[in-house]
Amino acid sequence: MRFGIILGSTREGRVSPQVGEYIKGIAETRLDHDFEIVDVKDFKLPFMGTAEPNLKWNEKIKELDGYIFITQEYNHGMSSSLKNALDSAREEWFNKAAGIVSYGSGGGIRAAEQVRLVLAEQKVAGVRTNPAFNLFTDFENFTTFKPGGHMATGVNDMLDELISWSEAFKTIR
Ligand SMILES: Cc1cc2nc3c(=O)[nH]c(=O)nc-3n(C[C@H](O)[C@H](O)[C@H](O)COP(=O)(O)O)c2cc1C
Repeated sequence: MRFGIILGSTREGRVSPQVGEYIKGIAETRLDHDFEIVDVKDFKLPFMGTAEPNLKWNEKIKELDGYIFITQEYNHGMSSSLKNALDSAREEWFNKAAGIVSYGSGGGIRAAEQVRLVLAEQKVAGVRTNPAFNLFTDFENFTTFKPGGHMATGVNDMLDELISWSEAFKTIR
């Protein structure tokens, strides 16, 4: 199966690529599936409804069997770039599973729960385990990602849940 690790932040100086690469590294070490970074920034998505959509985004979302959302917390919610990316496709998301990885000063869990709600409307099932990284303890100077070794356990749990649900969803697509 093919999984997209979706970087939700498009901010200059963002830390999301470091978090995405860490998740990709763990996934590829242990699992016999394809994991690719899908960077929202690369697609230069217009704010939904304001210009011609970039259908490359829809194609990418459709061809993947599941997703891992790298979710940052801005003002107690998900980033607007991630919400816009979620809104910019519809059926392409349907009947798939997703893992949600978050970060922020409190682990980004408020943003993660928002993503879960939005995914439900897009017929994407968010798995239970949400690896949540803390800006104070899993980053140096809030910029260099140095997660505690124990955090890998949650990442592996999330991946196991994602694989088994994704196998199940394949049967109804
Ligand atoms: C506009 C803005 C609002 C933020 N609000 C929160 C917040 O409510 N809670 C939190 O934990 N972190 C908050 N942060 C800190 C971000 O989570 C942190 O900067 C993180 O690195 C952002 O992800 P990124 O670097 O991938 O863009 C905020 C950052 C910005 C830029």
